[in-house]
Amino acid sequence: MHFLHGALSLAFSFTSLSGILVVVTTGLIAAVVVWTVKLLLRHAYYTHRLSCFSMPPVHSWLVGHLGQVGRVLQVDELVKTYKHSCSWFFGPFYHLVRIFHPDYVKPLLMAPGNITVKDDLVYNHLRPWLGHSLLISNGKEWARKRRLLTPAFHFDILKNYITTFNTSTNTMHEKWRSMLTDGKTNIEMFNDVTLMTLDSLLKCAFSYNSNCQESTSEYVSAIVELSDLILNRRLRIWHHWDWIYWRTQQGRRFKKALSIVHRFTREVVQKRRTIINHQRMTESQPDLSTAGQRRKDFVDIILSSKDEDGQGLTNEEVEAEANTFMFAGHDTTASAICWTLYNLAHHDHYQEKCRQEVMDLLQGRDEHEIEWEDLSNLPFTTMCIRESLRLHSPVQAVTRKYTQDMLLPGNRTVPKGETKDHGLIFMSFTDFG
Ligand code: HEM
Repeated sequence: MHFLHGALSLAFSFTSLSGILVVVTTGLIAAVVVWTVKLLLRHAYYTHRLSCFSMPPVHSWLVGHLGQVGRVLQVDELVKTYKHSCSWFFGPFYHLVRIFHPDYVKPLLMAPGNITVKDDLVYNHLRPWLGHSLLISNGKEWARKRRLLTPAFHFDILKNYITTFNTSTNTMHEKWRSMLTDGKTNIEMFNDVTLMTLDSLLKCAFSYNSNCQESTSEYVSAIVELSDLILNRRLRIWHHWDWIYWRTQQGRRFKKALSIVHRFTREVVQKRRTIINHQRMTESQPDLSTAGQRRKDFVDIILSSKDEDGQGLTNEEVEAEANTFMFAGHDTTASAICWTLYNLAHHDHYQEKCRQEVMDLLQGRDEHEIEWEDLSNLPFTTMCIRESLRLHSPVQAVTRKYTQDMLLPGNRTVPKGETKDHGLIFMSFTDFG
C-alpha cells in the first residue's frame, strides 16, 4: 500500500512537472514568435518607407549591411557615390538614414527641440559616464540645463583661460624641444596634444594641476581609457547590449575607469560646494577660492548658476556636466589641433604665412605669449583653422530621431522614429568644397 502511494505521487508529480515544462516551453516559443513577427513587420515597414533613399548594396534583405560598419565610416566614398544621402540597415534591428549634403542637414538641425530626440543607440553608451548631462538629455530637461550652463560657455569666459592655455602649451613645447635635443626627428603628436588639452581642461574645469604632461595621472589615464572604450563599443554591435558588454573584458575595464573618474569629480564638486556654502554664510569674500585669489572655474560657475525659480543644479547634475566638459572638450580640441598642423604641414607656403603672421604680431614684445586681444588679429591663421575644421571635422557626425516625419529635399521623407532604434538619422559633417 505504502509502495503504491509512493509510485502514484511520483507519477503525478512527474506529470505536473512535465505539464509545467510544456506550458513554459510553449510560452517561450510563442514569445519568440511574436517578437520575431513584430521585428520583421517593423523591418518591412522601414524598408518600404526608406525606399526613397538610395542604398549601398546589401548582403541580403535580412542582414543588410551587418558586418559592414567599416564601409559606413568611409564617408568620402559614400559622398562620391550617393551625393546627398543614403540609407542603411543592420539586420532587421537598426535602420538609419545617412545625410551628407548641407541642404539636407539644415532642415534637420533647424527642427524644434521638442520633436528632436538624441537616440539611445549612440548616446546611451555615454550615460554610465555622463549621467543626464546636456550632451545626452532631450526636450525640457535639455533646455533647462542649457539655460543654466549658458554662463559657463560665454565667449568672454575664455579670456580668463588664455594664460592657462599658454602655460599648458609651453609645457608641451618644452617636451618637444628636449626630444629634439636628444636627437629625435619625428614625434607622434596626438598623444602629446591630447595630454596638453586635458591638462588645460583640468585647470579650467577644476583648477586642478594634474601635471599630466610630465607624469602619469590615474584620473587622466582613466579618461583616455573611457574615451577609447566608448569608440570601441560603438563599432561592435554585440557590445551594444548591456548584459553582454558588462561581462566582457572591455566592460570590466570601463567600470574600473569609471569609478576612478566619478570618484575624482565627486570629491571636487563636494569640496567646492562646501567652500561656496561656507562663503555664503560668512559673506566675507566675493571670490570663491579658499585663497581668495583664484579665478572662477567651470565648477564654480555651474555651482552658482540658478534658473528662473532660483533652483540650481544638484551635486549629481554638476558632476554630470563636469564629466561631459572633460569628455567633450579634450579629444575634439586635440583632434582639431592635430589636423590643423597636418594640413599646414601639407601646404608649407600657408604654414609659412601663418608663422609670419604670428611673428609680426609678437614683434617687439618681451613675452612671446599670445594674449586674448591677439586672437582677433590673426585673420589668416584663423581661416586656416576653420578650413581644417571644415575638411576634417573632429566630430564627424551626430545622430538624431524625430517624433514626426521629416521632409527633405527631393520629396524624400524620413519616417518618425517610433521605436527605440528605428528612424534614426546619422548626419555627417563632411567636405563639400
Ligand atoms: C573643435 C572642437 C569641438 C568640436 C568640433 C565640437 C563639436 C560638437 C558637436 C558636433 C556637438 C553636438 C553633439 C551632439 O549633439 O551629438 C557638441 C556638443 C557639445 N560640446 Fe563640443 N565640440 C568641440 C569642443 C568642445 C569643448 C572644448 C567643450 C567644452 C569644454 C565642448 C562641450 C560640448 C557640450 C557640453 C556639448 C553639448 C551641447 C548641447 O547639447 O547643448 N565641446 N560639440
